Amino acid sequence: MINRTANRMVSKSFASLEYEYCKIDWDHFTTREIGIYIHVPFCPRLCAFCPFHRVLYNRQQKDRYLKALLKEIDLRGIYGEVEWVYIGGGTPNLLKPDEICMILDKLKEHVNIEDITIEGKPRYFTREYLEQLYACEISKLSIGVESLKEESLDIVERDKTGVSLIEEIVNDAHDLGMVVNADLMVGLPKQYSKDVIRDVKKLADLELDQMSTYPFTKAPGAKNRRRTTSKHIFEMIEKAADVIEETGYVRENVWVFSRPKLATKSLTEDPKEYIGYGPSAFSVVGNLQVVNPHIENYIDAILHGRTMGFKIDFDEGFNAWRRFAHRLYDLRISDDFIKSMPRSIRWVSNMLKLMGYIKDERVTRKGRYFIHDLTTTVIEKLPFPLGNPVSRGVACMNIFF
Ligand SMILES: C[S@@+](CC[C@H](N)C(=O)[O-])C[C@H]1O[C@@H](n2cnc3c(N)ncnc32)[C@H](O)[C@@H]1O
Ligand code: SF4
Repeated sequence: MINRTANRMVSKSFASLEYEYCKIDWDHFTTREIGIYIHVPFCPRLCAFCPFHRVLYNRQQKDRYLKALLKEIDLRGIYGEVEWVYIGGGTPNLLKPDEICMILDKLKEHVNIEDITIEGKPRYFTREYLEQLYACEISKLSIGVESLKEESLDIVERDKTGVSLIEEIVNDAHDLGMVVNADLMVGLPKQYSKDVIRDVKKLADLELDQMSTYPFTKAPGAKNRRRTTSKHIFEMIEKAADVIEETGYVRENVWVFSRPKLATKSLTEDPKEYIGYGPSAFSVVGNLQVVNPHIENYIDAILHGRTMGFKIDFDEGFNAWRRFAHRLYDLRISDDFIKSMPRSIRWVSNMLKLMGYIKDERVTRKGRYFIHDLTTTVIEKLPFPLGNPVSRGVACMNIFF
């Protein structure tokens, strides 16, 4: 009952979001502790299930993109300390290592970076490629494995990754002192609990540093339909979680598990604020959220010296809910944190405690299902990817959902 009500409320609140497509003035965002996300939208082929902004690789477009990205970093004028940089996509490891390093060098002209992660498809992370990434201070990899069951991958038109390839990447990365996360998808067609358990056991044997078990979602923009219920997917994740935890991993949040040496800092850690560069990248700073336009409008605007974006100003109340949701997702929620929240959130927290969703400052199994289901709804209802505005040359226009 509470799950259904919360899902309805979330869907309704997303339906009323209103973004403005505007030139964004970033000058006032200086020295503060933030993360940086860089979006590389190119892929060798487009997976049918994928909701992210991605395009087929094409060298001319990639060259114009790189030119725009370097210019955007200068135009934004962000300076200061950066906790982490995450290079995501798309498939960032389709870029040459020196292109990745060039982006990082440009960033380093502006900010000091503590920690750099890159994600990508396993088959491009060769030993030589990793060595070059490591030389420009990338210390974490996230590889898209999805499943080791070929039948399921075929149905969603995803190319296959053998265990031997993952083993080689993990060994090479470990030799260099890098850590590795693997993204798995749970709830794929013809994928059963026993398949997920077999996969996580194999990955644990390879001494992978982190496993992310994402529920198969049908996000706006994606072609494939989810063929099973959110509840069934949750049960599969929980059964896999028992095995993963038995093999020495710590549960970081509803879907991510890390080896203890990483337990305080996840590869996909979500900080309070981050700046996104590149087409369709998100930025969240203070109450402001900005989403960059898709690739061609992005390149066009930036090369003309304009940092255009879809922006929305969330009020303090919305931000408090967002912080609360993050704590729940991380499964740890202290009484002191709850006390610092507005009255409406304190009331909901008390309800969650009364219903057994939170106990001793931890989210219980019942609570985990609630968060899993709610987060799945959020992903499936998000009004993204935001399309390019239809009429160009307009200084500021409203976009409704
Ligand atoms: C955006 S991809 C980037 C890495 C690389 N392009 C790849 O596919 O391996 C990162 C991850 O998003 C996850 N993902 C993409 N579409 C998804 C969906 N519909 N449901 C759940 N996870 C999804 C997959 O686990 C994928 O590995
Ligand atoms: S899952 Fe990865 S490779 Fe597939 S389309 Fe999405 S970003 Fe590209």
